[in-house]
Amino acid sequence: MTSSPRLSVKRADFGDAFTFGVATSSYQIEGHTFGGAGPTHWDTFAATAGNVVRAEDGAVACDHYHRWEEDLDLIRDAGLSAYRFSTSWARIMPEGRGAVNAEGLDFYDRLVDGMLARGLQPHATLYHWELPAALADLGGWTNRDVANWFADFTEVVIGRLGDRLTSVAPVNEPWCVSFLSHFLGIHAPGHRDIRATARAMHHVLLAHGRSIAAMRAMGQTNLGAVNNFEYVSAADESEASRAAARLYEGIYNRWFVQAMMQKTYPEDVLDLLGPHMPAGWEADLDLIGAPLDWFGVNYYTRQNLRATDSPIFPAMEPAPGDLPKTAMGWEVFPEGLYRILTWLKAEQTGDLPIRITENGLASYDTVGPDGVSDPQRLDYLDGHLKAVLRAKAEGVPVEAYFAWSLMDNYEWAEGYEKRFGLVHVDFDTLERTPKDSYHALKAMLAG
Ligand code: NOJ
Repeated sequence: MTSSPRLSVKRADFGDAFTFGVATSSYQIEGHTFGGAGPTHWDTFAATAGNVVRAEDGAVACDHYHRWEEDLDLIRDAGLSAYRFSTSWARIMPEGRGAVNAEGLDFYDRLVDGMLARGLQPHATLYHWELPAALADLGGWTNRDVANWFADFTEVVIGRLGDRLTSVAPVNEPWCVSFLSHFLGIHAPGHRDIRATARAMHHVLLAHGRSIAAMRAMGQTNLGAVNNFEYVSAADESEASRAAARLYEGIYNRWFVQAMMQKTYPEDVLDLLGPHMPAGWEADLDLIGAPLDWFGVNYYTRQNLRATDSPIFPAMEPAPGDLPKTAMGWEVFPEGLYRILTWLKAEQTGDLPIRITENGLASYDTVGPDGVSDPQRLDYLDGHLKAVLRAKAEGVPVEAYFAWSLMDNYEWAEGYEKRFGLVHVDFDTLERTPKDSYHALKAMLAG
């Protein structure tokens, strides 16, 4: 570090009850070939040419499976008090059903104890995308039975860890699990099929509902959901572009939260997906909409859209504006986080406490002899934390902020090229080096 860049926000502005943490996910950091884990659909997706940059996979990732103590030390040393992590289904149940891999459960047991020993609150997400390959073979998220398999997995995890978890969310980002993976084909299993998509969009919510019900029955408390949101705008004033933006926003933002909060699906999205929905879906909404204790928001960017003249869906394309962009090409728009938060309170979540469960960016960081400089990350964090403060000041009950991510990791279809970490990882030596943003966050938290 040549200088000591600072954040402009102050810890005290958020109030003592506000929680700061970092988030990661199992497949992105652990290294999946260790400890008896079964194969996942991400392994097969990555092994198929053209799906992932350089065909990289999570075989070794950050080797967190062996280096978890050092990683928890980094979280504690930053002055953070919470860690959002995920449990790998295929590590715990290699076939997805039936036999439990004791080594896998033992790993999470040590990890959770390690958090508590360091004064860190464990916030678990049960599913962050690596579906066991054996379940993918049975149709994965397109098969209604997935909700029951997931409830069984939930019981195994909670039976072992539940007594020490601060909070639990069943599924990370249902839009990505369903639409991104079954319609756009960008994530595993890489389908491009509207019928598979409609089924996955419903079954992922049913799995959420069954998992919540299973946890309530076990007496588990502090249960929530983690959904992703983009601020969606029309790139021009035409009626067609406005309608396209509205439909995209319905699929991305409204479908999932509205089902969970109001037990209904948006009519405009049903107009598109209705013919492809599984029979009897209406009867599931009661379970899907069971009460939650908090609602998680993952926010990264804005989506600016214009209509195309395609005769079929999706008759739209991105038209990025002149906002600054991250290494992912995503527009930086902190105002969008403020608008999403105020919209959620007004239209969807009401007084339910909100947690920012992910926020961050991939940037081109400079590794030098004295550290890692990442000025764009500092600006991004500062801007988005200010947006949180603004929403809080207007009465939105935001109670936590988790930065994505603790360290550079496996960015799915982008492989290891895109770096989201507060801590730099050298993927040859696996050495961890805190970036300037890590030091700035630490200084802010120290007050
Ligand atoms: C959201 C996902 O939960 C996470 O896995 C991913 O790395 C980040 N977005 C960045 O794309």
